[in-house]
Amino acid sequence: MRKKLVAGNWKMHGSLRQNARLLDALVAGAGGMRCDIAVFVPCPYLAQAQRVLSGTPVAWGGQSVSEHDAGAFTGEVSAAMLGDFGCRYVLVGHSERRTLYGEGDDAIARKFAAARRVGLVPVLCVGETLAERRDGQTEAVVSRQLQAVVDHVGSAGLVGAVVAYEPVWAIGTGVTATPGEAQAVHAAIRARVALADAALAADLRIVYGGSVKPQNAAELFAQADIDGGLIGGAALVAGDFLAICQAASKLGTD
Ligand code: 13P
Repeated sequence: MRKKLVAGNWKMHGSLRQNARLLDALVAGAGGMRCDIAVFVPCPYLAQAQRVLSGTPVAWGGQSVSEHDAGAFTGEVSAAMLGDFGCRYVLVGHSERRTLYGEGDDAIARKFAAARRVGLVPVLCVGETLAERRDGQTEAVVSRQLQAVVDHVGSAGLVGAVVAYEPVWAIGTGVTATPGEAQAVHAAIRARVALADAALAADLRIVYGGSVKPQNAAELFAQADIDGGLIGGAALVAGDFLAICQAASKLGTD
């Protein structure tokens, strides 16, 4: 049985003072939850996350990573650097990186591999735009995004990783995929991985992101192939994020 994961992507939000309040509240509320919990914080706050979250049930990670291990890459952060600050996870291929910063499938695959080289758990984000959905391209787009990674690291490279299905049209818009729409794509992703390795597919955690709120989390997480959530806006409000964790915890397995 797959343990649910609820992860907050803070994006470019926060300050030392705001984070201190938010992190303290998360630590206070996370005890006893029967799901994994993580936060993706902006890089300058990794030391703060490490200091406050070490030894608590809340893990942390970076929002992106360089495909390179070291070198003359101004502005980039390596996977080993994230590891130095205790990160367990790193987001790879978030749609904002794809669309705003031009990260393509191949670069994202190399970032995924860089994360794996140092033992970070990559959370590979995939998802279609509204135009692609209207065009009936959802599964094709998501499959292409996934396949680029498999081509680079092999299907064994997905072992222990996480896939986040984030339809671009549902991110920050307040429009959520219906539980049925999300489930259909999650099932398609799992079926695709199963073609290469059924056991791997059965264990792979596939989380949903896109306007997850306390009001819709329980129904989304109850779907057979939805193993938790990647939360944007609602992750900045401790009560909302913890309510979403609670929804996952109620469906938890241990
Ligand atoms: P929202 O929850 O704000 O829609 O953001 C989703 C997201 O992009 C998480 O990575």
